[in-house]
Amino acid sequence: MGRVVVATEYGGPEVLSVIDEPTRDPGPGEARIEVKAAGVNPVDYKVYSGAFGRDPAALPLRLGSEAAGVVTQTGPDALGPAGPVRAGDEVIAYRVSGAYASELVAPAHSLLPKPAPLSWPQAAGLMLAGATAWHCLAATGVSSGDAVLIHGAGGGVGMMAVQLAAASGATVIATASPARHELLRQFGAIPVSYGPGLADRVMKLTPAGVDAAIDLVGTDEAVDVSVALVPDLARIATIAAPQRASQEGIKALGNSPGSDPGTEVRQAARLNLARLAGDGKLRVVIAAMYPLAQVADAHRAIMTGHTNGKIALITHPPDTVGAAS
Ligand SMILES: NC(=O)c1ccc[n+]([C@@H]2O[C@H](COP(=O)([O-])OP(=O)(O)OC[C@H]3O[C@@H](n4cnc5c(N)ncnc54)[C@H](OP(=O)(O)O)[C@@H]3O)[C@@H](O)[C@H]2O)c1
Repeated sequence: MGRVVVATEYGGPEVLSVIDEPTRDPGPGEARIEVKAAGVNPVDYKVYSGAFGRDPAALPLRLGSEAAGVVTQTGPDALGPAGPVRAGDEVIAYRVSGAYASELVAPAHSLLPKPAPLSWPQAAGLMLAGATAWHCLAATGVSSGDAVLIHGAGGGVGMMAVQLAAASGATVIATASPARHELLRQFGAIPVSYGPGLADRVMKLTPAGVDAAIDLVGTDEAVDVSVALVPDLARIATIAAPQRASQEGIKALGNSPGSDPGTEVRQAARLNLARLAGDGKLRVVIAAMYPLAQVADAHRAIMTGHTNGKIALITHPPDTVGAAS
């Protein structure tokens, strides 16, 4: 019997509950996982908020698309991207559905070896933000010698994008609230506060201009400043303002209608992200951890739009979860 988070209707976090549900045996090409931690992402509350529709037939909705845990059982031919998946393997599950649970049956092709240095919460929060950031950098062609402006750098995706862009040799200008500036400096970025006057502040930091911009927040300011400063519109991407993207002729990335989902590039990024995290070259910053039963509080926190780093749900007692940074 597993514990599973469901949204029983459309609305706010109050519609979430944790129910007991039997976990089926894995079939061919599948594995069952004892989930240690699940990653929380803004899309997880958007799906039951009604932002993507209110189909009553879809209820109750299971939530979450990334988790980390231990394989407890496999079906035949359980082959993952890194090879055969076996009972006892410590894995990251991404992309899966219904990750907010104490047990999960997932396709083996969604299971990657957990990088040993990461705690369970860090492992659970690595992939969605990391693969999104990877896609943003690929779509805007960021490489050594570029100056790239990253809006919303203090968030889950932003911290990944900053680290990956800095590792590529680019000069990274990162917008965030002042409390995040020191951490962003440690990641190799030049931090700058968002708000009125942003374009002027950025131009003072990079008088030679900005080659590419990545919007991870979706504000008009982020889009307007990007369009004003980057000469080549094909080198501006947003993951959070698809309507502005089509108006301005910049790239929209993700699952909104008309956006580039980048399925292949995101899938392919997973092993690279695991390797970088395993080598200590990519940090997953944990903003907060909540027990599964407090999932509504976890969502209230991420709904503020000002959490800094990843939020994790802990599905097994803390002494089995490991430390987080
Ligand atoms: N299209 C896709 O494929 C895709 C994938 C993942 C996420 N997303 C979307 O992308 C957005 C970011 O995701 P996330 O997981 O990184 O969210 P997150 O962890 O909640 O981070 C959001 C960050 O935005 C910053 N922020 C808030 N207002 C800002 C402003 N006016 N200017 C600049 N930064 C601001 C906040 O930092 P401060 O504390 O510094 O304010 C916060 O850290 C969400 O809307 C999410 O749904 C889209």
